[in-house]
This record gives sequence, structure tokens and C-alpha cells, in this order.
Amino acid sequence: MKIVIGNDHSAVEMREAITEHLKARGIEVEEIGTFSRESSNYPEWGEKVARKVLAKEADLGIAICGTGVGISIACNKVRGIRAVCCSEPYSAKLSRQHNNSNVLCFGARVVGVELAKMIVDAWLDAEFQGGRHQTRIDMISEIEKKG
Ligand code: RB5
Repeated sequence: MKIVIGNDHSAVEMREAITEHLKARGIEVEEIGTFSRESSNYPEWGEKVARKVLAKEADLGIAICGTGVGISIACNKVRGIRAVCCSEPYSAKLSRQHNNSNVLCFGARVVGVELAKMIVDAWLDAEFQGGRHQTRIDMISEIEKKG
């Protein structure tokens, strides 16, 4: 399992903590930045994470900004990406089981590091359930095709 992780300036410390947590779980991690606390633009980092997932250079992606909102919107503009913005583990788990989310986003200014680790664990430990949920994901793909 390989995860690509990216963030804007507001989430440098959070990315470091989550990377350490992922590695402790035995997961290979690719950090794409930013590594700087100078202001940067979250769409850039969201798109980079999303494109790596789409290109199958990573199995899943994690993208973090201040709220998780902007970066998740950016990720979701890449066709085939299903990014979820979570502030608690329940939605993270269900986003895998029902929505087959392939990018997890959260806000470094919204959740603390320990809650973020719980969100990440709930997301990673859940599996897509397929069946009627696949039908609904296919419907989302059809919406994407319409542009
Ligand atoms: C940066 O100040 C902030 O706007 C960004 O991290 C994020 O919260 C956007 O949604």
C-alpha cells in the first residue's frame, strides 16, 4: 500500500504527523509538499495528489489544508477522484464503504493530530462494499462525463 500526501502551508506539521503515523502502520508514503510555511495555494497541492492517485502512482491520497474544504474541492475537479472532507471517523469509514473515496481530506485548523489519526485509521481500515454502492458511483461517473 502506497499513499501520496500533500498539503498547503497551514498543514505542514499535520502532514509530518500523519506521515509518521502512516509509516508506523507499514505504509509507503510519498510526500509531495508543500514543505514551506510560506503561503501557497491549496488547489496546486490538491491537484498534484489527485493526479498521482489517478495515474496509479499511489493507491490512495491524503490532502490537507486549513479546513480541508478547498483542497477537497480541488481534488474533486480531477475526473475519477472521489475526495472526501472529514472531521470525524464515521464519515471517513462510510466514505470508503459506500463512496469508494480515493482521497481523504481534512483541516489542520479544524481537527487535532490525534483525531486526524483516528480519521485516517477509520478510512484505511474500511473496505468498499460494492453492489448498490457501485451503481451509485457509476452514476457519479456519468455526471462527470456530462461535464
Ligand atoms: C489558507 O489560508 C486556507 O484558505 C486554506 O488552507 C484552506 O482552508 C482552504 O480551504
